[in-house]
Amino acid sequence: IEAAAKQALADCGSIKGLDDLRVRFLGKKGELTGILKQMGGLSAEERPVIGQLANKVRGDIEAAIGDKLAKLKAQEQEMKIRSESIDITLPGKPQSVGKLHPLTIVANEVKEIFLGMGFSVADGPEVEYDYYNFEALNLPPNHPARDTQDTFYITDNILLRTQTSSVQVHVMENQKPPIRIISPGRVYRSDAVDATHSPLFHQIEGLVVDKGVTMADLKGTLELLMKRLYGDDCKIRLRPHHFPFTEPSAEVDVMCFNCHGEGCRICKGEGYIELLGAGMVHPKVLEGCGIDSEIYSGFAFGLGLERIVMRRYNISDMRLMYENDLRFLDQF
Ligand code: PHE
Repeated sequence: IEAAAKQALADCGSIKGLDDLRVRFLGKKGELTGILKQMGGLSAEERPVIGQLANKVRGDIEAAIGDKLAKLKAQEQEMKIRSESIDITLPGKPQSVGKLHPLTIVANEVKEIFLGMGFSVADGPEVEYDYYNFEALNLPPNHPARDTQDTFYITDNILLRTQTSSVQVHVMENQKPPIRIISPGRVYRSDAVDATHSPLFHQIEGLVVDKGVTMADLKGTLELLMKRLYGDDCKIRLRPHHFPFTEPSAEVDVMCFNCHGEGCRICKGEGYIELLGAGMVHPKVLEGCGIDSEIYSGFAFGLGLERIVMRRYNISDMRLMYENDLRFLDQF
């Protein structure tokens, strides 16, 4: 039996086959068990001899099966490793890395420029009281200029801010001059969506209040901003304008990136593109916030971030910035 078992083991090539052999030789109905069952018919002298022999054979077969099992397992493992081996020379799958939105890129850049000029960044609520968005900015109820900013009202006196100028009021209420802040953020106007309008867009407000602040400081600050953004040959132009919360007020144009002031299709022959509103903070606004307008003066400006981004990257349609099309966003 032992010889037969060893031969069978040598021929056996699988773990399953090995199990069959175990049953055949050592199982309850196996060959060796058959012999042990017949032990009852043996004489008292023969029984221990045969018994010992049978046990030794059982032990040997068990050990042989154990060895074979270890060998087969090692073989199987080896095959598995070979079949699963990785070809490290294959090219990898590229992982696409997230990018900043162009609005974020330019907002960060503008922030950096102003931080370098000693400004700090202020924040204000997007859901705002009428008072901060209009009234404290010298726009009392029924003021005609309110109509120029189509407002989303939430209640009679709560609205979505139409301009970041609301932050000016918060800052002046909470801070004594000297004040030097910018405040970037979302603003809302109930405009229909087209290439140059969106009900949600972004402004960056600027406010400086101190002793002896003049229009020249305003112009110098904005000129530096535009040179940093668009290059040293960039020029700006101030045109008289009207805002209820600044006096005097100006609209600020920046030299057309396409024709450098010559006049072309993009700037409609003007040579300049309108970029922001600005002016000297109205004494009434200062006084309303508890700042003595006999001692202090200030300038403020509000620029549309989308316009800067569009001019910067030569984007012709504002909608691209909100559609989150990766073919567009991947370019920045
Ligand atoms: N808030 C004005 C607007 O949205 C811009 C502005 C800001 C003008 C500050 C003057 C001073 O049009």
